[in-house]
Amino acid sequence: MAPLCRFVSRFSVTLITLSVLLSCCCRPALAKKKLYIGALFPMSGGWPGGQACLPAAQMALQLVNERTDILPDYELELIYYDRTVLFLFFVIHTSLIKQVVMRGFELFLPQLSYGSSSPALSNRQRFPTFFRTHPSATLHNPTRVQLFQKWKWTKIATIQQTTEVFTSVSHVSRVKEAGIEISVRQSFLTDPAVAVKNLKRQDARIIVGLFYETEARKVFCEVYKEKLFGKKYVWFLIGWYADNWFKIKDSSINCTVEQMTEAVEGHVTTEIVMLNPETVRGASNLTSQEFLAKLMSKLGGKNPEETGGFQEAPLAYDAVWALALALNKTVGRLKAKGYRLEDFNYNNRDITTEIYRALNTSSFEGVSGHVVFDAQGSRMAWTLIEQLQGGSYKKIGYYDSTKGNLSWYGNDQWIGKTCIVHYFYIP
Ligand SMILES: *[C@@H]1O[C@H](CO)[C@@H](O)[C@H](O)[C@H]1NC(C)=O
Ligand SMILES: *[C@@H]1O[C@H](CO)[C@@H](O)[C@H](O)[C@H]1NC(C)=O
Ligand SMILES: *[C@@H]1O[C@H](CO)[C@@H](O)[C@H](O)[C@H]1NC(C)=O
Ligand SMILES: *[C@@H]1O[C@H](CO)[C@@H](O)[C@H](O)[C@H]1NC(C)=O
Ligand SMILES: *[C@@H]1O[C@H](CO)[C@@H](O)[C@H](O)[C@H]1NC(C)=O
Repeated sequence: MAPLCRFVSRFSVTLITLSVLLSCCCRPALAKKKLYIGALFPMSGGWPGGQACLPAAQMALQLVNERTDILPDYELELIYYDRTVLFLFFVIHTSLIKQVVMRGFELFLPQLSYGSSSPALSNRQRFPTFFRTHPSATLHNPTRVQLFQKWKWTKIATIQQTTEVFTSVSHVSRVKEAGIEISVRQSFLTDPAVAVKNLKRQDARIIVGLFYETEARKVFCEVYKEKLFGKKYVWFLIGWYADNWFKIKDSSINCTVEQMTEAVEGHVTTEIVMLNPETVRGASNLTSQEFLAKLMSKLGGKNPEETGGFQEAPLAYDAVWALALALNKTVGRLKAKGYRLEDFNYNNRDITTEIYRALNTSSFEGVSGHVVFDAQGSRMAWTLIEQLQGGSYKKIGYYDSTKGNLSWYGNDQWIGKTCIVHYFYIP
């Protein structure tokens, strides 16, 4: 690689923590020209997603390179970094480097992330060339509205932890449009005791909770103490939890496992689907189950539960496919204009625009489901709706927000909860 290329790829990789992007292509003399993709795969720290996502991406890359109908004249090569360069990411947020960042955007780097769910990234002004195979956390909203309408719930309460992600997820305009009134709104920073007491005092019945797992335990311990559960209440949770989150020992609460289990029974939760639930051979000719089996063998017997990013691995795999298919599409369009991919540099607007356009119109079956992006570059995906029944989560339906299609299993259970007008009516 030429020095400039190396600089650009190192720098831009750190622009947004987890992104796959085209770096550069040189060496015209070889039979197959190399295309470099710069990527960040954190192996330790808060989210060691690289542990499973890197093998997944490498698997995708190998398959792409073996295919004769995708970029036949090129070989893709991954250049990746661990957290060691993360400090640069933080430096970028200081004003000194801002100029360089602006210049980076001018240079128009296509970026594709597999691990970011923050709604803040859905901003074409700030991130004009950003795409992600990871759906935005706001994807829960249309699902929620759909369910409220299905169950004819017109009056809801919310309780949320005050962090940016939950504040943007709870964005209320959609709920209002659907004619649903938010009658009570409570928030808390770390201790939910007062907020839960207020819910009780204000006679909340259908309660939407947005918080992380640790806070969820605190909330439901308070819920138990305030008797804010049972046939008069419905809880609807949005968060990222382990399956047995309410049974995990936690010194910050003093409720027993039995008490917690009683308090959380019957709640509904939505989860973004990251593994294709259907048995289809997508663009890579692998079903999601075959993908998982291959990934497991690549991990060499490591426990998936203890391997960072195992859940997101299908997104990393599909990110490489999205990029490869987009580049393949670009080759044809460039040829018509008299360019080749290897003429790529960050100052050539024609080429970067074509790559952007190709990514923008991505549509293929991946191991994580159908891969399409919305106008902000965020992945559109299915959500899974589950209910805690007898202490374990049962799938009760799927929602496809691109088609507005709710697939319902009809196995939801509402013991003692019927026909209380405005609060809940469950046919
Ligand atoms: C790659 O592009 C070529 C030529 O534009 C096209 O014929 C081929 O179908 C594409 N491959 C895939 C997998 O879409
Ligand atoms: C533990 O629970 C009891 C009531 O069951 C309560 O009086 C006490 O304050 C709680 N202790 C802590 C540390 O939360
Ligand atoms: C896809 O995979 C199946 C099963 O491994 C195989 O039989 C089939 O030939 C493959 N198709 C292509 C186009 O590679
Ligand atoms: C990208 O797609 C969106 C719709 O999904 C469209 O509004 C936008 O104009 C497209 N951008 C380009 C550059 O094609
Ligand atoms: C809705 O989803 C179900 C189950 O996946 C499927 O059978 C049905 O064809 C879908 N309907 C539409 C309109 O997409």
